This record gives sequence, structure tokens and C-alpha cells, in this order.
Amino acid sequence: MLKIGVMASGGGSNFKAILDRIDCGDFDAKCLFLITNNGNCGAVAHAKNFDVPVFHVSGKTHPERSAYESALLEVIDRFDIDLLVLAGYMKVLPTSFIKRLAGRILNIHPSLLPKYGGKGFYGIHVHEAVVAAGERESGATVHLVGEEIDSGRILAQCRVPVLENDTPETLAARVLEQEHQLYWKTIRDYGEGLKTISR
Ligand code: GRF
Repeated sequence: MLKIGVMASGGGSNFKAILDRIDCGDFDAKCLFLITNNGNCGAVAHAKNFDVPVFHVSGKTHPERSAYESALLEVIDRFDIDLLVLAGYMKVLPTSFIKRLAGRILNIHPSLLPKYGGKGFYGIHVHEAVVAAGERESGATVHLVGEEIDSGRILAQCRVPVLENDTPETLAARVLEQEHQLYWKTIRDYGEGLKTISR
């Protein structure tokens, strides 16, 4: 069984899609915790519904950067996870944290990276840029988390056509639907690979 921890800040639809797949038995995993920087977000509600412990670590709970970092590390050290899964986590992670979990943090981004990634490309802004550029296709990317924003080895991508009458919002909705299919499978496959290597 793959042991994962999740970090999320928003609606948490990707988080819920993962929990649903675990719940129905498609994905042999257990989610040991949710770390959030937003105690009122949808992801917290999903965690509660699935009995996943929630840790609220943010600039509000830990105003000093060093205290914020230590609080994150404390959660990671308390649980023995195979992978840390970012599912719409909106804060940039401390470098020390990324180094500690090198090769074991995954993220999902709503574009075909390396296109439309990096500073400023988050949320609806990604899809606005794709539509404004007249792209014929977009998609989503699951990648390992590197030290630069949206950097790190690409593990999987899915493609979504951009339709003639697409708005950023309609495109975002179709990409998000595909993310829900792509993420859990990629976490599962990458996790299985890691376990084979460490055996
Ligand atoms: C997704 O579009 C994901 O690609 C990005 O943040 C969004 C999270 O959506 N990293 P949700 O909170 O899972 O609904």
C-alpha cells in the first residue's frame, strides 16, 4: 500500500478524486494527512469527510518563515509517507523541504509544461494565456517538484483540445476533469516504481 500525504489550498477537487479512488479500491493507498495553508478551504471539508487528519500551517499560524518551515517538517517527520502530493497548494515550498523529500513530491499543473508554467501561471491565468495565444490544444502535467516553480521531471501529461468558442473558464473545467483521471494513476504508477527500486 502506498502511503501519501497531500498539501492543498483550494477547492480540493483533485484531492477528492484521489480519495474517491482509494475509497472504491481502484488505488491501493492511504492518505495519512492533509496540510493546508487555508483552514476554510474545500480540501479541508473533503479531508474531514474521509477522516484524514488536517494540519493548518500558514503565514497566519506561523508568521515567521522559519517557524512555518519547521511546522511543515514536523508533520512530514511524524508520518512515514512514500510520496507527498501537491493538489492545488498555492504557496511556494521552502527549498529545505524540497531537498528533504527530493524525488518524492509530485505536483499537477493545468497546462502542457513547459508551456504556460512558472511565475504568474496559476489558476485561471494559465487558461487565459492559452486562449489568448490561440493554442489549439492544452492539457495537464504531473511532474516532480524541483526548486524552481513548475520545474522538475515530467511524469505524465494529458492533452485537451481548445475549442473555437472556449473561454478560459470552459477550458479550465475540461482540463480539470482530465486532471482527476490523470493524477491518481500517475501517483500510483510512480509510487509502484519507487517501491520496486527500494526493494
Ligand atoms: C488544478 O487546476 C491544479 O492543476 C492546480 O491547482 C488546481 C487545483 O484544483 N495545481 P483543485 O483544488 O484540485 O480543484
